[in-house]
Amino acid sequence: MIMKKLLITIDGPAGAGKTTVSRTLADRLGYRYIDTGALYRGVAYEVKSQGVNPKSETELADLCRRLQLGFKTEAKGLRLYSGETDISDRIRTPEISMLASSVSAIAVVREYLLDVQRDIGHRKEAVFEGRDMGTVVFPAADVKFFLNASLTTRALRRYEELKSESDQSLDTVEKDMQRRDTNDSTRSLAPLKPADDAIVIDSNDLSVQEVVDRMLSYIFAKG
Ligand code: DC
Repeated sequence: MIMKKLLITIDGPAGAGKTTVSRTLADRLGYRYIDTGALYRGVAYEVKSQGVNPKSETELADLCRRLQLGFKTEAKGLRLYSGETDISDRIRTPEISMLASSVSAIAVVREYLLDVQRDIGHRKEAVFEGRDMGTVVFPAADVKFFLNASLTTRALRRYEELKSESDQSLDTVEKDMQRRDTNDSTRSLAPLKPADDAIVIDSNDLSVQEVVDRMLSYIFAKG
């Protein structure tokens, strides 16, 4: 039983299993689950649908001033809204994945989303999933995890996930993932890396339940 209200962060590369693990962990704790990648995808989606030039800081700054991205918890789970429109089902395509990775390297986008994320986090009792949760957005988080797995494992998982909706081959999925990994971990702003005080978990040979149980044991020790 946890006594304190905790803020928990889970960072890691694409396909490491963060989403399932974060959602399961949040359920077990009765906490909110916040998928911050969805916010970057939301920006990318609006960039595409409004015809914004993703390389122009000025155009992106203008877009971010107008944007109203936010989450609502509904019967279907966590939904991402842009203004009054539920865009959750439009942000998971390979094109939006790549565009999200490229706009996430731009300062104005990160600044806009920093405020959005901290605003959601101030009540604690949440599991935040992302790339820079423990390093930049919530450096004082109560428990920080970094979930990792090999590129081959991660690509295979993503391929299985996308199989029914996309005709991308395993090889293409793996190459896209490698490109995104390089983008996300070599950018100068908030690059993907474990926080100094993060607990690193390798999910290669662990089931979701085993990862969650391991996390819970660290959390209970803290709470
Ligand atoms: O977790 P995801 O695959 O939905 O994230 C999409 C992209 O958004 C990812 O390639 C990098 C970026 N991102 C980020 O820069 N910082 C975060 N906290 C979450 C995602």
